[in-house]
Amino acid sequence: MKLVRGIGELVGIVPEGVLRKQGAEMGEVGTLKDAFLTIEEGLIKDFGPMQECPAPSAGDEVIEAEGGLAMPMFCDSHTHICYAGSRDREFIDKINGLSYEEIAARGGGILNSADLLHSTPEDDLYRQTMERVNEMIAKGTGAIEIKSGYGLTTEDELKMLRVIRRVKESTPAVIKATFLGAHAVGRAYSGRQKEYVDLVCQEMIPAVAAEGLAEYVDVFCDEGFFTPQETARILEAGLKHGLVPKIHANELAVSGGVQVGAEYGALSVDHLERTTDAEIDVLKGRRTMPTMLPGSSFFLGMPYGRAKEYISSGLGIALASDYNPGSSPSGDMRFVMALGCIKMRLTPEQAFNACTINSAYAMGVSDVMGSITKGKRASLIITRPVPSLAFIPYCHQTPFIRENII
Ligand code: NIG
Ligand code: FE
Repeated sequence: MKLVRGIGELVGIVPEGVLRKQGAEMGEVGTLKDAFLTIEEGLIKDFGPMQECPAPSAGDEVIEAEGGLAMPMFCDSHTHICYAGSRDREFIDKINGLSYEEIAARGGGILNSADLLHSTPEDDLYRQTMERVNEMIAKGTGAIEIKSGYGLTTEDELKMLRVIRRVKESTPAVIKATFLGAHAVGRAYSGRQKEYVDLVCQEMIPAVAAEGLAEYVDVFCDEGFFTPQETARILEAGLKHGLVPKIHANELAVSGGVQVGAEYGALSVDHLERTTDAEIDVLKGRRTMPTMLPGSSFFLGMPYGRAKEYISSGLGIALASDYNPGSSPSGDMRFVMALGCIKMRLTPEQAFNACTINSAYAMGVSDVMGSITKGKRASLIITRPVPSLAFIPYCHQTPFIRENII
């Protein structure tokens, strides 16, 4: 058994069976001052006030929290961290005034990453991806969804997903894999988008499913990428093969992707930088978690999503990093939380729930991650002594992690 004692405040306690927070619940964070927590076989066994702290037996490991907070590790439900190299040259293009769309239209962007990935050996891609996973763990993230989508040929999509499987087998972080063959039209299919969608539906999805390489299917449903009709076709093909939808929508324009996602029972619809009231209405009463990616708004200078309005309409929201080489080259969930507070005006409690229990839900792991709940995985951040939960997004560059237990 492991015993964590002297916890200044246990933060993020959620009753068993609660898998997400919505509306007013998003403002509430369960806490307990002066607490202990015990861990057995990697799971939270018990917690309570220090007065009831059990005496350690011989062989138990004791961790002194020395007044720091203990909170669940962040869950990052949307990343593209399986990529090769970087796109620092495009960073310069952006500084000089080109937009994300203009860079993509010139054959840069996602296609540039696809070329790099194609020429990178699988072992090297694995090493680069693991480096990013370890960087994210060190910053307090304990669960990561990783998408394919820089392959854009059947062979290279499978290569990415096999790398993600290897990552899954070799890290203590919880990993979920998403097939995103429809991230862009592969170079060989330029001008033949319909045939590329056929390839995704008829060849890629069956191949991915045959090897059991992904849990989810995603489509970049946006202006200049895939239409709602194409998205529907791909989601149907995915569902036939047991892949649950997660959608990229409304990053570049109001795309209709939210409606398609909701109709096909998507676990999440992501980006939502541009949202009309219709998108908020269509998500009411659904299983779908609206997910916003403030790191890409920050990096590309786009609007931030209307998070507050989603919440006041009774919906939950999740936040994720979107860690990728083109629109959000950072997997720092604490910075995401800070952007949620500073730019989207979420309270620290709302931002915390969006980065833990709700982002766990958006990647289908909130039954085992995302809160302090008996029986869940004991993936915890023990902080240095900090005055409050709010301090974490407020002084967002001050080191706050004393120790991660994962
Ligand atoms: O979520 N929007 C589409 N995909 C990524 C960007 C991928 C890239 O530029 O490499 C995103 O922002
Ligand atoms: Fe993305």
